[in-house]
Amino acid sequence: MRIIKNIGQLVGIVPQGVSRKVGHQMDEVRSIPDAFLTIEGDTIKDFGHSSECPVASSSDEVIDAAGGMVMPMFCDSHTHICYAGSREQEFIDKINGLSYEEIAARGGGILNSADLLHSTSEDELYSQTMERVREMIGKGTGAIEIKSGYGLNTEDELKMLRVIKRVKESAPAIVKSTFLGAHAVGRAFVGRQEEYVDLVCKEMIPAVVKEGLADYVDVFCDEGFFTPEQTARILEIGVNHGLIPKIHANELACSGGVQVGVAHDALSVDHLERTGETEIEALKGSKTMPTMLPGSSFFLGLPYGKAKDFINAGLGIALASDYNPGSSPSGDMRFVMALGCVKMRLTPEQAFNACTLNAAYAMGVQDEVGSITKGKRANLLITKPLSSIAPITYNYQTPFISRIII
Ligand code: NIG
Ligand code: FE
Repeated sequence: MRIIKNIGQLVGIVPQGVSRKVGHQMDEVRSIPDAFLTIEGDTIKDFGHSSECPVASSSDEVIDAAGGMVMPMFCDSHTHICYAGSREQEFIDKINGLSYEEIAARGGGILNSADLLHSTSEDELYSQTMERVREMIGKGTGAIEIKSGYGLNTEDELKMLRVIKRVKESAPAIVKSTFLGAHAVGRAFVGRQEEYVDLVCKEMIPAVVKEGLADYVDVFCDEGFFTPEQTARILEIGVNHGLIPKIHANELACSGGVQVGVAHDALSVDHLERTGETEIEALKGSKTMPTMLPGSSFFLGLPYGKAKDFINAGLGIALASDYNPGSSPSGDMRFVMALGCVKMRLTPEQAFNACTLNAAYAMGVQDEVGSITKGKRANLLITKPLSSIAPITYNYQTPFISRIII
């Protein structure tokens, strides 16, 4: 057994069986001051006030938190970290005034990443992806969803998903994989979008499922990418093959994506830079977690999701990094949490819940991680001594992690 003692504050305690926080439940982060926590194998066994801390036997390892906080690691429910190289040239194009849509319409953007991925070996792609996984773990993330979507033909989509499977098997973090063949129309199909959707439905999904390579199916349902009708078709085929939907929606326009996602019981609908009352109404009473990606609003200069409106309407929200080479080249969930506070006016407590339990829900791992709960996996951060969780987002550049247990 491992015993963590001298915990200044044990933060993010959630009772067993609570799978997400909605509305003003997001205001609450339960904590115990002056606490201990025990770990058996890789699981949280017990925790409580220091006065109840068990006496260590000779076989126990004692970890001294030195007055720091102990909290669950972040969960990142939306990433595209399996990519080759980078898109620094487009960064310059953006600085010089081109929009994300303009770059894509010129045949750049996602298609540039697809060209690069095509000419990169599986081993090299694995090593680049693992480097990003290690970077993310180092910044406090303990569960990561990773999407395909830079293959855009059957062979290269399978290549990506095989790499993600290797990452799943070898990374210490929990990894979930998502098939995103409908991220853009592959180069060979430009101008023949319906034929590409046919390929996704008739060839890619069956091939991906046959090899057991994906947990989820995703579509970039937005203006200039895939329509709500095409999205519905892909999600239906995905569901028939046993995949759970999780989609990109409402980044570039109010395109009906949220409604299609909810109609297909999507686990999450992600982006949501542009939403109104209709989207909030559609989400009420659903199991779908609205997920906002402030890192891409920051990097692309887009509006930030109206998280407060969602919470005031009684909905939960999750935050994720969207780590990818085009719209959010960072997987720093602490920065995401800070953007949630500074740009979306979330309280530190709301942002904390959005980056832990609700993000775990948005990637289907809420029974395993995302909170301090007996029986959950002990993917934990020990922080430097902090007065509360507010300095994590207030001093958003000051190193705050003293030890990672994963
Ligand atoms: O979530 N919006 C669509 N897909 C990604 C960007 C992918 C890319 O540009 O490489 C996103 O922002
Ligand atoms: Fe994305």
